[in-house]
Amino acid sequence: MASGEWPVDADRAHLIASGKDADVFLRADGLLVKRSRAGAPAEPEAELLRYLGRFDVPVPRVVRAEGSELVMDYVAGPTMAAELSAHPWRAAGLGRALARLHRQLDRVPAPPWLRRLGEGRRGGDRLLHLDLHPGNVLLGPAGPVVVDWANAARGERGVDVALSWLVLAAARLRPRHRPARWTLLHTFLARFDRAAVRAALPAAAEVRLSSPDRDPAERASVARLLERMGERVAG
Ligand SMILES: Nc1ncnc2c1ncn2[C@@H]1O[C@H](COP(=O)(O)OP(=O)(O)O)[C@@H](O)[C@H]1O
Ligand SMILES: [Mg+2]
Repeated sequence: MASGEWPVDADRAHLIASGKDADVFLRADGLLVKRSRAGAPAEPEAELLRYLGRFDVPVPRVVRAEGSELVMDYVAGPTMAAELSAHPWRAAGLGRALARLHRQLDRVPAPPWLRRLGEGRRGGDRLLHLDLHPGNVLLGPAGPVVVDWANAARGERGVDVALSWLVLAAARLRPRHRPARWTLLHTFLARFDRAAVRAALPAAAEVRLSSPDRDPAERASVARLLERMGERVAG
């Protein structure tokens, strides 16, 4: 280990994002380091990223994983969420892009070693990201790239699509950003079987609410959406 190179040296790396679970630094050599604040091991996410790269899923290339730090290529570009706020007129195109990413996941066999969602619950053995919302999509120079695979599991693909819808629908946005959100969601949903997405929403809500970090406002918002989902998703 060269001194100052590892672990992240705060003088030579700068914090570019603090996500829900991790701090993300850009290193002086241009590589990106994601470090779990809870000290969770980085290797499982690294292994999945390497696997997905072999199936041409657009994910960052892993350089290495050591302890709770994952070193990978930096994707130069805004998140889809930032792009939606900055350029709301692109909402429909972003909704199509998010739907295309799900189509790509449809084609990937789930790695057999991935945990299974809701053991004992009804079927599904497909690859699920489980957090594929616009904050976890980077719009890089070669197209959209999906990050944050730490919660991935095997299960029914409909649950993954329903989660994308639910997370963005429940996000608390400033009023001026809300029309673009609904345009994105409408365009997204038009590319799937609405009845199937609707049927998967309760399971998606269960996944979303199973995390202890959901704040009361988000819980209330998810509950309201579930009640009204008939109208929104059927609409
Ligand atoms: N390879 C990458 N290149 C550029 N930015 C990244 C990369 N990986 C993560 N980020 C940025 O860091 C944020 C947090 O990373 P993420 O993997 O989503 O962790 P968390 O679980 O904390 O949400 C992302 O939303 C994105 O803005
Ligand atoms: Mg994230």
